[in-house]
Amino acid sequence: MTSAAAPGRSVTARVPAKINLELLVGPRRDDGYHHLSTVFQAVSVYDDVTVEPADDWGITVTGPYVDLVPVDGSNLALRAARGLADVAGVAEPVHITIDKDIPVAGGMAGGSADGAAALVACDALWDLASPRGVLEDLAADLGADVPFGLHGGTAIGSGRGDQLAPVLGRGRYHWVFALSDVGLSTPAIYAECDRLRGATPVRDPSPSAPMMSALRSGDAEALGRALTNDLQEAALTLQPGLSEVLGTGMECGALGGVVSGSGPTIAFLVADHEAALDLAVGLTASGVASAVKRATGPVAGAHVLTSGAATGAASPPRRRGAQRPGAPDGGGGGGAGPGRPPGRGAPSSPA
Ligand code: C5P
Repeated sequence: MTSAAAPGRSVTARVPAKINLELLVGPRRDDGYHHLSTVFQAVSVYDDVTVEPADDWGITVTGPYVDLVPVDGSNLALRAARGLADVAGVAEPVHITIDKDIPVAGGMAGGSADGAAALVACDALWDLASPRGVLEDLAADLGADVPFGLHGGTAIGSGRGDQLAPVLGRGRYHWVFALSDVGLSTPAIYAECDRLRGATPVRDPSPSAPMMSALRSGDAEALGRALTNDLQEAALTLQPGLSEVLGTGMECGALGGVVSGSGPTIAFLVADHEAALDLAVGLTASGVASAVKRATGPVAGAHVLTSGAATGAASPPRRRGAQRPGAPDGGGGGGAGPGRPPGRGAPSSPA
């Protein structure tokens, strides 16, 4: 298959990591997933996903996690791009480049985020202007955390975590993340949670009053107290060293600390920028974490950062069963995400 794409045409989408401020795990469902009630927050640790027309589907990863990201057909960004091409009838392969800063297998939805970014980037590259619902359905098919990558902000997730409702909260929160260099498998953590629960009956969860009230008021101290994760015990069982990380962070002045999603990243909430610097220094000096990152939240979901189409070099993609039209249609395209954004986030060292 050859591409008739204009040389140099590319779109870059930026997507944030997520943390779970509250993760309440209900009973296991027949499909193997668990009923969840979770509160997601998008934080300023980003992957940048660039798509450009190519002769064949392909993927390249750059950044510190190169060796940890699959570059075969299992990669969520590649699956997302192909899924959108199928739905939209686009017959133009893309090469995807992921500039990765979100930890891999860290409980911050790094792979899911790339799926969301690829949807937004391809939607813009192919001038599809897909209805939001189309991208959301594709996202939910890719994985439980992918829809939140599109959504961003702060949101309640129910069902598998993929049915989202925005939280109208106040405040901008300062986070410090303690990273581990050994990842945790999400299915293994859920299985361990089931094992620890044994035959104890579990009810369908719903968002807690303390969490909702903390977010409504924008009270960081109350939010710190309300941070909860039903998977935390399972993560601490499988990676016992995380208890020391949690203890150290609290001793260094965090308002609260919680395992992020299925871990092993631990998210600490602090009062302000200075407290974040102090905690990052404290965690680094103690040697309990393999790396430390600072961030703020909430931030916007996946959005187009730059588009080579703006240079006027764009031509519409080939559609299956249709001749490539001779001239651009002039459509603005544009991704599903809000236009935004400046810097890529705080540096990963406290210095
Ligand atoms: O949807 P995703 O592929 O990200 O989920 C990874 C795994 O996490 C699932 O296969 C399942 O084992 C577990 N999971 C779950 N319940 C959820 C979300 C994820 O059991 N609500």
